Amino acid sequence: MPIPDDTADTMTSTPTNMSDHHMVSAGAFSEDERRAVYRAIETRRDVRDQFRSDPLPDDLVRRLLEAAHSAPSVGFMQPWNFILIRQPETRERVWQAFHQANEEACSMFEGDRRAQYQRLKLEGIRKAPLSICITCDTKRGGPVVLGRTHNPATDVYSTVCAVQNLWLAARAEGVGVGWVSIFHEDAIKSILGIPEHVKIVAWLCIGYVDELYDMPELAVKGWRERLPLDKLVFEEGWQDCDDM
Ligand SMILES: Cc1cc2nc3c(=O)[nH]c(=O)nc-3n(C[C@H](O)[C@H](O)[C@H](O)COP(=O)(O)O)c2cc1C
Repeated sequence: MPIPDDTADTMTSTPTNMSDHHMVSAGAFSEDERRAVYRAIETRRDVRDQFRSDPLPDDLVRRLLEAAHSAPSVGFMQPWNFILIRQPETRERVWQAFHQANEEACSMFEGDRRAQYQRLKLEGIRKAPLSICITCDTKRGGPVVLGRTHNPATDVYSTVCAVQNLWLAARAEGVGVGWVSIFHEDAIKSILGIPEHVKIVAWLCIGYVDELYDMPELAVKGWRERLPLDKLVFEEGWQDCDDM
């Protein structure tokens, strides 16, 4: 809730205090609201195959994009762009790029693990009615960006925050999202005409879903288990841990 006007009137009007007029209440959410936030976080899934074919309404897509665009970013750089792809021909070309890279990835596993990999479905590029390619413009904001000087990768970290915002908002809307990273970046850049200095951060397959796995699909299919949180939490400094 904004600070009431009578409180604001008691403040001096120096430029520093002008920013105080933008302060709003920061109390905890109501119990129902908190439950909803944690529910979105805990039940979000990476979706590969459960997509319905019906298109998403424009206003819903807009809400997802607004959620992404509300993400934090280093120096408020907002390095992201969102390329919406609905054309089946384009998605087919991207699927071909995925397919080639996936064959390469598969060959890196041996024996049973390779057979297990081959059985996994790792994308929904052709099935989902919408794809969004989320990019990071490394030149946005000029050569010196507040907070990024000592770690140039923070522009990509910022873009990943946008992806996660979109993913969680989508869960709340009954919309599934699947992140595809198995492709040579240059192949997708060439299909979409993305310039050299812009990085592809995520290819997201998006569509309504009626059902989701109740745990990560890779765990359901025996690929890898969720690690115990307690093994990942250290106190006051790095601690020895088993190879995980
Ligand atoms: C950066 C990133 C890249 C990913 N790339 C792929 C991918 O190419 N194919 C795929 O099937 N899943 C991909 N995933 C989804 C992960 O496999 C998934 O998040 C993980 O197995 C946990 O499952 P959950 O998201 O359903 O909780 C990716 C996830 C992230 C964060």
